[in-house]
Amino acid sequence: MNIGIIGAGNIGGTLAELFAWTGHEVAVSNSRGPETLQGKVAELGPNVTAMTAKDAAKFGEVVLEAVPFGKYQDLPAEALKGKIVISASNYYPNRDGDIDLSGTTQTGLVAQHLSGSRVVKAFNTIFWQHLRDQGDLSLPLEQRRAIFIAGDDADAKRVVTELIESLGFAAVDTGTLPESAVQEPGSAIYAKELTADEAREMLGQN
Ligand SMILES: NC(=O)c1ccc[n+]([C@@H]2O[C@H](COP(=O)([O-])OP(=O)(O)OC[C@H]3O[C@@H](n4cnc5c(N)ncnc54)[C@H](OP(=O)(O)O)[C@@H]3O)[C@@H](O)[C@H]2O)c1
Repeated sequence: MNIGIIGAGNIGGTLAELFAWTGHEVAVSNSRGPETLQGKVAELGPNVTAMTAKDAAKFGEVVLEAVPFGKYQDLPAEALKGKIVISASNYYPNRDGDIDLSGTTQTGLVAQHLSGSRVVKAFNTIFWQHLRDQGDLSLPLEQRRAIFIAGDDADAKRVVTELIESLGFAAVDTGTLPESAVQEPGSAIYAKELTADEAREMLGQN
């Protein structure tokens, strides 16, 4: 699958590496332009190329956004129309400044900007080094580390679930985007090292 990545730092760079290892074609992008990513793409191997954010958006059947939350309005909404967009960003007021969520959730706000995209919140609760190191394909799903997902499009969630499982994790569904505060910073499950079984227990899903 072609996967575009907007924001090639800790989270975006780690997922670029993991997706490339698992056989996908990956386009990474940042705010400063593809020429600043040449060192990174050389490290990540032949499946990874650097593009502008807009071109990475066009390239991906699935596109990950992993930018500082305060930059969400820079995401190229037109190029992302119709695409599955995985949103990994978290709102930290100290880093991102004051942002009016107007009664919506963090990813709800991203989805408002990306109207016409199929937004799935995922990979936002896991520290990037754990993402890099804790996937284990040998474990049954219920014993793997949980990656929480939320979204309003069941088919998009299925695609993201398969990607998560292909990296050796298990997807645990927390519901729709309006319900996705359950996986925002400060929530009971945020940044916790939980198996899928433990995660569902905490969420009252077992
Ligand atoms: N770090 C974690 O373990 C972790 C875990 C889960 C979720 N998150 C969330 O994921 C997001 C990224 O975190 P991170 O730690 O990966 O950050 P990071 O290492 O600082 O990387 C941020 C990336 O976003 C790019 N970027 C910034 N503004 C952009 C824009 N307007 N358009 C395109 N790209 C832009 C940066 O490119 P330039 O350098 O060119 O500006 C950089 O490649 C944050 O919202 C964070 O809260 C982080």
